[in-house]
Amino acid sequence: MWRYREMLPLIHDENRVSFGEGMTPIISWSNLASRYGLENLMIKDEGINPTGSFKARGLSMAVSKAKELGVKSCVIPTAGNAGGAMSAYCAQAAMKATVVMPKNTPRMFKEECEMYGAELILFDGLIDECGHYAAEIASKTGAFNMSTLKEPYRLEGKKTMGYEIAEQLNWTLPDVIFYPTGGGTGLIGIWKAFHEMIELGWIAPEKLPIMIAVQSSICAPVYDIFNGRDNVKKYSMSVANGLSVPKAFGIDMIINVLNESKGSVATVSEHNILQGVAEIGAAEGMLIAPEGAAIWEALKAMIKEGLVSRKEKIMLLNTGNGFKYMENFPR
Ligand SMILES: Cc1ncc(COP(=O)(O)O)c(C=O)c1O
Repeated sequence: MWRYREMLPLIHDENRVSFGEGMTPIISWSNLASRYGLENLMIKDEGINPTGSFKARGLSMAVSKAKELGVKSCVIPTAGNAGGAMSAYCAQAAMKATVVMPKNTPRMFKEECEMYGAELILFDGLIDECGHYAAEIASKTGAFNMSTLKEPYRLEGKKTMGYEIAEQLNWTLPDVIFYPTGGGTGLIGIWKAFHEMIELGWIAPEKLPIMIAVQSSICAPVYDIFNGRDNVKKYSMSVANGLSVPKAFGIDMIINVLNESKGSVATVSEHNILQGVAEIGAAEGMLIAPEGAAIWEALKAMIKEGLVSRKEKIMLLNTGNGFKYMENFPR
């Protein structure tokens, strides 16, 4: 992703903390595409990033900038993937990492942080409560708070997905992009990149993709707010851990992207998410994160309802690798 360094807020290259993240492949699922009659299905596979998810982009950027600013210690609330990524990048940068994670997160996410030398704090609640605790730690210890959108740099790393999509499609864009949405940085970052590229004259402004945010039906605050319902429900932990975000700090920005792109929010049941993981595994030989399976299921439902056409250029952002979630999968 650092090929876009002129567009990233790092001043000196020597501060870069990187494992070679980004420029992930766009692949086709030809077996599934022909099963469902999809003419133009593309999957950008973020699961092959270092530490197994797109979170690597944001944390490569943010830890690099922290290093440049002389930060010695970082703290992050996480649903799993971001915590592992921050721990790894902090290890490379020789910084102290503190990770606050829901107790019910699959074991691999926890062990990974510890293997990277981070201090792991488990919390009996969802990521919003972990966020309050991380903020307390930051104010008591002076650690840099890496919480989603409370610092400006993770978004900058994640926006590189938008640059790559355009570059890989020869400076054109898909008709519709499906993104699994928790805190929303991926969605907001991609949209930011599209606007920057319009300003640069790299892409035409006429036709930006429709952005579809996808959530689990048991934790769908963006869906509720987008549809004019108050965000007061009790939400639960999804098997797609990254979607278990009951309160997105960047909700206004998420809604703005959806409105500007004429997009919408889809929800998927827990049952269908797990079914999607199994279907993709058996048909395409890829064990993807349940967050990625959620968008596949949302696409199928929207095709069935006639909300997306089989002819459209459809891009699914598979945000993560399924290996860390094994205990969430029934076998
Ligand atoms: C695999 C995966 N997909 C999607 C998300 C949601 O990302 P965002 O918070 O950028 O909306 C997460 C967040 O933890 C995740 O780990």
